[in-house]
Amino acid sequence: MSLSLSSNGFSLHSTKLQSCKRCSPSQLPNSQIQVSFNSYNPSLLLPLYVSEPTKFCRKRVCSITASTAPVVETAKSSFRDKNPKDINVLVVGSTGYIGKFVVKELAHRGFNVIAIAREKSGIRGKNSKEDTLEQLKGANVCFSDVTHLGSLENSLESFGYSIDVVVSCLASRSGGVKDSWKIDYEATKNSLVVGRNHGASHFVLLSAICVQKPLLEFQRAKLKFEAELIKEAEEDAGFTYSIVRPTAFFKSLGGQVELVKDGKPYVMFGDGKLCACKPISEQDLASFMADCVLGRDKINQILPIGGPGKALTPLEQGEMLFRLVGREPKFLKVPIQIMDLAIGVLDFLVKIFPSMEDAAEYGKIGRYYAAESMLVLDPETGEYSAEETPSYGKDTLEEFFKRMLREGMAGQELGEQTIF
Ligand SMILES: NC(=O)c1ccc[n+]([C@@H]2O[C@H](COP(=O)([O-])OP(=O)(O)OC[C@H]3O[C@@H](n4cnc5c(N)ncnc54)[C@H](OP(=O)(O)O)[C@@H]3O)[C@@H](O)[C@H]2O)c1
Repeated sequence: MSLSLSSNGFSLHSTKLQSCKRCSPSQLPNSQIQVSFNSYNPSLLLPLYVSEPTKFCRKRVCSITASTAPVVETAKSSFRDKNPKDINVLVVGSTGYIGKFVVKELAHRGFNVIAIAREKSGIRGKNSKEDTLEQLKGANVCFSDVTHLGSLENSLESFGYSIDVVVSCLASRSGGVKDSWKIDYEATKNSLVVGRNHGASHFVLLSAICVQKPLLEFQRAKLKFEAELIKEAEEDAGFTYSIVRPTAFFKSLGGQVELVKDGKPYVMFGDGKLCACKPISEQDLASFMADCVLGRDKINQILPIGGPGKALTPLEQGEMLFRLVGREPKFLKVPIQIMDLAIGVLDFLVKIFPSMEDAAEYGKIGRYYAAESMLVLDPETGEYSAEETPSYGKDTLEEFFKRMLREGMAGQELGEQTIF
């Protein structure tokens, strides 16, 4: 197994020293800047779009307090007393499925959003700079490279903003082993380092509920970053975090809409009751993430979060789809052991052909989501609990299925491999 860890050669300890010295972006120590790429272009600065705050429905939200240290409100965290328009929020992963909605929601609430994007963004880089600017309307878009600390540092330096809050929606688009460590750990850490260097005193992280039971590389990469984020807050009382761990996204459950519409059976593992989730929409999750920017009740918390309604098994999701298309349910039940067999074969092949490590990882990812619930896990009993999984928002899977049946799956495409 190849775990390409922390090749950046930086540590948060040294970063903290730098950020303490720092007063304004123009006083950045040059010694830490590796000039390899700087895509700053002042003409990309867009006017800030501010509109009426959204009305959002909030339900009971339970949280896990990860740090026992009391949160001390210092001058550094006083951004919470400012008007949103005076709060600079750096968003990385701004062009992703959730990131796009987070940018929109933050801009809608009046924050000054600085969105980091690649020059070719989206699945397989299908979006041009112009597409990205259109997509991220309302934010100041900064084209840069989150995987290179120096480039990111340079780009922000050129942009000339100080940062109050970093929001990360970064994720590996492939879920492959090396890419997971590169994005879910290293690039996310780059955004923390650069954010801190530019004055950030709060970090909102989009993680995943499945890290509770880490069997996959991207989960281990996310957990490593979570641990470093928590440590940063423990060592500096003026720095805080909110770690958001959502359940399944709608896109992850929409893969069979077209098939069922076309008269095919709904495919599920075992009896279709091996796992369950409380799916959450992009808009509802974005709204929850935006709440984490100022919400004092969300400071230094790990926040599992699901959508409204009861937890749904694949069987129930399939039944719902057939009801909506007005046909008798027709299921294809696949024994989960088939996946175990495939994973065994792939694991064997990886020993001979190391280049197959991602294929083996995708097999494990598929197996994981076929059997593990996306609900809060009781570490003592090892049981998942729908009751303990907080609900938020208003968008239901049923409404989503109806819309997809009517309008097609545009905007709900999966990543660069087809297992997620
Ligand atoms: N799918 C689910 O059901 C589910 C459930 C719970 C939690 N989650 C978690 O939610 C998070 C976000 O998911 P998502 O679906 O919104 O992700 P996504 O659509 O795949 O977006 C990933 C973001 O990261 C950026 N990124 C990826 N590789 C990059 C690279 N090499 N350089 C620069 N930027 C890069 C992408 O930029 P580009 O647009 O330039 O590629 C994009 O902005 C993930 O951590 C995931 O694990 C997912």
